[in-house]
Amino acid sequence: MNEKRIKVELKDKSYEIILRQNIISKTGDYIKKLGAGKKILIVTQDKIPKIYINKVIKNLRKTGYKTYVNSLPSGESYKSLSSLLKILNTAIKNKFERNDSLLALGGGVISDLTGFAASIYLRGINFVCIPTTLLGMVDAAIGGKTAINIKEGKNLIGTFYQPRLVLIDPACLKTLSKKEFLVGMGEVIKYALLEKTGKKVFRNKGFFMYLKNTKNKILELDPATLSKIIEHSVSVKAFIVSKDEKESNLRAILNLGHTFGHGIEQAYNYKKYTHGEAVSIGTCLACKLGNDLKLFSEKDTNLAISLISDFGLPTKLTNLKLLSKITEAMLHDKKIKDGKLRFIIPTNNIGSVKIISGVTINNIIKIFKQHHSGKN
Ligand SMILES: NC(=O)c1ccc[n+]([C@@H]2O[C@H](COP(=O)([O-])OP(=O)(O)OC[C@H]3O[C@@H](n4cnc5c(N)ncnc54)[C@H](O)[C@@H]3O)[C@@H](O)[C@H]2O)c1
Repeated sequence: MNEKRIKVELKDKSYEIILRQNIISKTGDYIKKLGAGKKILIVTQDKIPKIYINKVIKNLRKTGYKTYVNSLPSGESYKSLSSLLKILNTAIKNKFERNDSLLALGGGVISDLTGFAASIYLRGINFVCIPTTLLGMVDAAIGGKTAINIKEGKNLIGTFYQPRLVLIDPACLKTLSKKEFLVGMGEVIKYALLEKTGKKVFRNKGFFMYLKNTKNKILELDPATLSKIIEHSVSVKAFIVSKDEKESNLRAILNLGHTFGHGIEQAYNYKKYTHGEAVSIGTCLACKLGNDLKLFSEKDTNLAISLISDFGLPTKLTNLKLLSKITEAMLHDKKIKDGKLRFIIPTNNIGSVKIISGVTINNIIKIFKQHHSGKN
């Protein structure tokens, strides 16, 4: 596979996302072109296969870099203040200077945390990202949102800080669990549902139909198909971030399914549903709301829900016992503007979305109930 380059255009903060099989074995060759300092601190997690870490280190050393490693335990709970301090202490102890780099090798937890550390150490040092989960590749590593969690909530402390370079190696997905892979597929499906709004359309038939027609190849991790879906997802996100880095308008469309999803995650204390599962259910509810508001046809609603289900993602809650807790949590979402719930709703044909506000809580309860009792 030839390498693919996708650019995030942000004037002096522009950077490239480079996609290529086995690119991690060439990490140093690519970083060299940034003119970065000679010290690189790799931040990674214990569940990430050692072979990836060794390949990265081997090439970095070969190309003249001095490497340091912070390996953290896996899990969302390590996107924390104490992990942040650990990274900063390693950089301080080893006298990292502004031109040196922090390199995130892992999923969204590692890229959010390392990006945050890079943004505050010496008021900002180089940040390079090598995402190893599908969600990291198509979403978390791109766009510069960094964060840690505190006990009061997820992602409550963070910055906007763009990486200098993102290297994507689809070969890393071979060792990812099926569950984690599907979480990433939830995001890929999201891009299919909004790509026309972002004006980055995949061929004539559209990305949505491509996902439907190549489902088996995707699930078999066929390298060419995987590269195609990653490349297209990345280009949709890169385009949207280039237009609206700090989410003042267009970037909000990337939250499709999230108003419902966050409510679900929170009501279940982040235990029963993963983020990806909650957003998948949320996306189905957003389609149903779109249909209820006569913005999205019943046929397209059913088609969208069936694609989510084709990939083994949940489309509805197992029961509605916590419905009032969910709607309560939705009302306290940090993205609420002027006390009004905002939703991203699929519209017209598949591929376009619209931001709407002013939906009443009674309407939301009705959508939950209708969707739960429906057949899909
Ligand atoms: N910054 C953003 O724009 C953005 C966007 C979406 C999500 N996020 C954040 O991303 C996080 C979720 O990221 P995630 O879904 O990548 O989860 P994760 O980072 O927790 O990774 C999932 C699990 O897979 C393991 N793993 C990673 N790569 C592997 C590989 N190649 N082989 C085997 N195991 C591997 C990890 O160690 C971990 O146990 C959340 O904290 C979320 O808030 C950020």
